[in-house]
Amino acid sequence: MTKQPETFIEPTYAFQDKGAVYLFTNENISGYIDRSGDISGANILTVGASGDHAFESYLMGAKHVDTFDINSWQKNVIELKTHMIHHLKYSDFMDFFFEKQNFFGTKIIEPLKPLFSDDLKTFVSSYNTNNKQMFKYLGPCAPDFIIDRLRYINSEQNYEALRNVLPDKIEFRHCNITHIANYMDKEYKLVMLSNIFEYMYRFLSTNDRRVNEFSNNILDNIEEHITQDGRIYFHYAWGSNAASWNNFLAFTQQRFNLPKNLTAISIPSAFKNNKTDAVIYAFKSQNIK
Ligand SMILES: C[S@@+](CC[C@H](N)C(=O)[O-])C[C@H]1O[C@@H](n2cnc3c(N)ncnc32)[C@H](O)[C@@H]1O
Repeated sequence: MTKQPETFIEPTYAFQDKGAVYLFTNENISGYIDRSGDISGANILTVGASGDHAFESYLMGAKHVDTFDINSWQKNVIELKTHMIHHLKYSDFMDFFFEKQNFFGTKIIEPLKPLFSDDLKTFVSSYNTNNKQMFKYLGPCAPDFIIDRLRYINSEQNYEALRNVLPDKIEFRHCNITHIANYMDKEYKLVMLSNIFEYMYRFLSTNDRRVNEFSNNILDNIEEHITQDGRIYFHYAWGSNAASWNNFLAFTQQRFNLPKNLTAISIPSAFKNNKTDAVIYAFKSQNIK
């Protein structure tokens, strides 16, 4: 029998249930989301986080997106942004998150309140007491470096295009990544795991051991539920490049006799002061790269 989330959710080293939330991604998602080809019509599984992986997926034509997160508060962020995209104009959305005098301004979202779930009402009203401690960064508003990198907010046209394809509700599963394979009920073309890997198996002394553990305990189970041409993006490394990761992965594969289905690509960095970020993925078929 499948365990209920409450019985197995444990904090990782940096993340926990009802902890501070991300309002936006810190990755260059558009740099890798369609690197393996067209994702239109595809099923996608992604970490929930701010919802940005899901929003970008729908904008690129995904058929269905399932999300999961160890922090159930991310569900509120995803619900809030979904209502906003459906019912508010682009300039209000941008002001609410990126203008310091309007940041989290209740006036902007007041007309949407009748649509809010009870959890979202509680989350939004707790801003009065918790203030910026609710969020993963301390600046006066959401950091704007990401606007250029996110297709759905880098133009009004894209924001409206997303509105036309976004469902009223994004599926969210409150669970630890260690259990996500139990809930995969479709064949997915793309799985996006952000940089969760960075926080897993920290008790192991070296990174090669951690990749081996992650591969055996998590990637192998997920792989059963991806399409033949599917990819699991399992680590996002800022300020890094594919060449050094590929050397390290080759060493790890040899040492632990892992199948040769792990590789890295370089993409333009999400941050202006780095040249590239590396994204590391697993794939199913030896033929598809
Ligand atoms: C690793 S964080 C980093 C932010 C991310 N790079 C982004 O662009 O949003 C992304 C999300 O992973 C979730 N997370 C961390 N560890 C997890 C785990 N073991 N299982 C499920 N979700 C986890 C966090 O709660 C957070 O919302």
